[in-house]
Amino acid sequence: MLNKIKKWKNQAPSSDLRERIIKIREQKVPSHVAIIMDGNGRWAKKRALPRIAGHHEGMKVVRRTTKLANELGIKTLTLYAFSTENWKRPKLEVDYLMKLPEEFLGTFLPELVEENVRVQMIGYKDKLPGHTLRAIEKAMEETKDNDGLILNFALNYGSRAEILEAVKRVLNDCQSGIMEESELNEEVFSAYLMTEGLEDPDLLIRTSGEIRLSNFMLWQLAYTEFWFTDVLWPDFTEGELLEAIEVFQNRQRRFGGV
Ligand code: FPP
Repeated sequence: MLNKIKKWKNQAPSSDLRERIIKIREQKVPSHVAIIMDGNGRWAKKRALPRIAGHHEGMKVVRRTTKLANELGIKTLTLYAFSTENWKRPKLEVDYLMKLPEEFLGTFLPELVEENVRVQMIGYKDKLPGHTLRAIEKAMEETKDNDGLILNFALNYGSRAEILEAVKRVLNDCQSGIMEESELNEEVFSAYLMTEGLEDPDLLIRTSGEIRLSNFMLWQLAYTEFWFTDVLWPDFTEGELLEAIEVFQNRQRRFGGV
């Protein structure tokens, strides 16, 4: 473990962080962490910078967070990068957000491959620009055999639409005799969602002080622990991720039991 940490190239954690990482790994680490990365625009505004500067800074935090999540032994990290509602933003900002996956993967894909990270995505692919989709699909293809952390981008993702579409497919499968209505249960329904094959998140983090779900993983978050912070996403540090997990480890999850 210590050798692995020493290998960190960019930001080797301080000895304090290293001790916290070791302690966290001695307990139950959340298997699936989902993050609503919020506050890029406000971060930029505070510095009199264009909003896209906040998104660019946010991208660097994605890299750091992925690295640490992998080191901690988290199995899946789902990041809400673009919602089905985000198309309402100014064109310049949307265009920039659609370039970010290419920029991110163009820079970091070799490192992700080396670190055994597997890239996946949830969301509606059809509306994504070709260049965005190609970058994601290339990364998915190049990392498909990796069995370390799953870095799952929610891109053009909306949970209500996802659920509605699943319902329609269930109805269709029942009508065409592929499935009996009596066979439908929570597990079967989950497999109709875009997160098919993934565990439900154990921990949801939202940055920037907003306390809402914004149409994110409404079905999947039914028993998830939530952790909110006022910190804006570009300011989100390794220490904050560790804090969220430490809080998680001190909570008692009862899943409706006693
Ligand atoms: C919300 O902040 C953030 C987004 C809509 C985009 C999040 C994207 C990134 C953090 C970069 C993603 C990186 C990759 C690799 C895809 P906001 O703009 O709503 O902030 P505000 O509420 O302060 O205006």
